[in-house]
Amino acid sequence: MRIDIITVLPELIRSPFEASILKRAIEANLVEVHFHNLRDYTTNKHKSIDDTQFGGGAGMVMMIEPIDKCISKLKQEREYDEVIYMTPDGETLKQGLANHLSLKKNLIILCGHYKGVDQRVRDQFITKEISIGDYVLSGGELGAAVLCDAIIRLIPGVLGNETSALTDSFQDNLLAPPIYTKPRDYKGWKVPELLFGGNTPEIEKWREEQAYKHTKARRPDLLDE
Ligand code: ADE
Repeated sequence: MRIDIITVLPELIRSPFEASILKRAIEANLVEVHFHNLRDYTTNKHKSIDDTQFGGGAGMVMMIEPIDKCISKLKQEREYDEVIYMTPDGETLKQGLANHLSLKKNLIILCGHYKGVDQRVRDQFITKEISIGDYVLSGGELGAAVLCDAIIRLIPGVLGNETSALTDSFQDNLLAPPIYTKPRDYKGWKVPELLFGGNTPEIEKWREEQAYKHTKARRPDLLDE
């Protein structure tokens, strides 16, 4: 998979890709992530990428030209499955969408800033608009980092244990059950006895029950989906 991230603040989004699982995924060539600074695609001498709104109103709007230049250049080089725009009014990111995108080959992610982009960018270039939740961030970069993390960890080979992504919370619309490790007894706080017996079907049944109970208590809405 290849992900091209278009941003005015590459320094804001780089670090998550320079540590831990994402870094290893890149080093193992399981994913390529490229950052494109929109200012490199400006033609005016101040390298400005935004301007005031037609019709008046507070806040700057990102102009179409540098975005067009950047996206068009990338599209000349390869075909993209999706051109994604990070925005609070997009489709809310859920596990199902991350699963779906993890199967794609080439993705562009455009990070918005200020008030957002000229509507013609959305009309002409964007194939998917994604929000990471019902709150407003100061730019799309942190949202793009969240989206990339959710996608990249699902690519086969990225997580050590191939099955572990399948047992995450939200796969099957259930939250994950409780987990324990050594010691069996810490200050009298004990691990449930049944986990030591080696009775796999019984343990699986217990985990399913716990996941269901946990979901019912915390996120009953997931059980209706
Ligand atoms: N940009 C600003 N707020 C955002 C959000 N909630 N999700 C994605 N991109 C954003």
